[in-house]
Amino acid sequence: MFNFFLSLTAVIIMVVLAIFIAGNNALSSVLMTIIPYAAFLVFTGGFIYRMVQWWTIPVPFRIPTTCGQQKSLPWLKKNSLDNPAGFWSAVGRMALEIFLFRSLFRNTTVAISGRRPVYDSAKWLWFFGLLFHWSLLIIILRHLRFFVEPLAPWIAGISALDGFFEIGLPTFYLSDAAVLAGLSFLFLRRIIIPRWRYISLFVDYFALLLLLGIVITGLLMRHFYPADLLAVKNIVLGWMTLTPVVPAGVGIFFYIHLFLVFTLMAWFPFSKLMHMGGVFLSPTRMLANNNRSERHINPWNAPVKVHTYEEYEDEFRDKMKAAGLPVDKE
Ligand code: HEM
Repeated sequence: MFNFFLSLTAVIIMVVLAIFIAGNNALSSVLMTIIPYAAFLVFTGGFIYRMVQWWTIPVPFRIPTTCGQQKSLPWLKKNSLDNPAGFWSAVGRMALEIFLFRSLFRNTTVAISGRRPVYDSAKWLWFFGLLFHWSLLIIILRHLRFFVEPLAPWIAGISALDGFFEIGLPTFYLSDAAVLAGLSFLFLRRIIIPRWRYISLFVDYFALLLLLGIVITGLLMRHFYPADLLAVKNIVLGWMTLTPVVPAGVGIFFYIHLFLVFTLMAWFPFSKLMHMGGVFLSPTRMLANNNRSERHINPWNAPVKVHTYEEYEDEFRDKMKAAGLPVDKE
């Protein structure tokens, strides 16, 4: 539990810091004018840097994951998605992985029954993981309403669909309930299950607590302590037009919300959350398994000076003959 308390302390310190910043004119103008650009630059620069680093690591051979029959003889039924033979099958496997977390769907648990291991399916992680990621995406897309003027119809459409049940005023979004459910599951799993608690590090809790902090302050702003949304839009449009403004009266939760968001952005490229980009460069997922049908040359093979048998015989033919050894050429 030490790691949990450490990361909880880190997030609490950040919340206190944000409250302090909100009460200080000079610091709050730094938070609203300089930090947004700094966070954005670290996020995009760091993200690109990590991706280029991974992209330029040579992968000389295809690393297939063999969950299905490889393409081989024509009368053997191949499994295109589990063992893609070409580019488009690999695209299909990637799409299922990215949109539906297919490999997590195959997750299993094992328990010893008597003296035999018994495998069972384990779908909860898949379900709540998917719930969390999709709802986070929807929330981020909905937030674009602060960034574009006039409001694009598709953003309004997503918001309308998300608030379809029109529960409460302002409407409670389904994605908010879903993101809370997803985050709570991912978090409680690490706290409650002893083996998960054992392997959980500071950063595992930190990522979840940071996101929980952002979601909870967002919900507080929406339902209990309303932020001045017109002022928020002004601030965001100020960033976008490179004429940042220092707001007045947007409320303390907006400061905490933003402070946690900027922290997340700056930390993101150096954290495990980079799986967002890394999944696209995962060799076992993105490459077609064509090791047998195509020859892949290892690009970093050091040039080897070879000495063929013909050259060897040319060099030593006289000596070989003198020793009575057979030679190919007389
Ligand atoms: C990682 C990025 C972010 C996440 C995950 C996030 C999450 C949330 C959530 C879950 C809510 C609750 C209501 C809703 O779903 O709309 C919310 C509300 C809000 N967020 Fe964020 N947010 C993020 C970034 C931002 C940024 C960059 C801004 C401002 C520039 C912002 C401003 C607001 C405001 C003003 C509300 C209240 C909305 C309302 O009253 O309808 N958020 N946020």
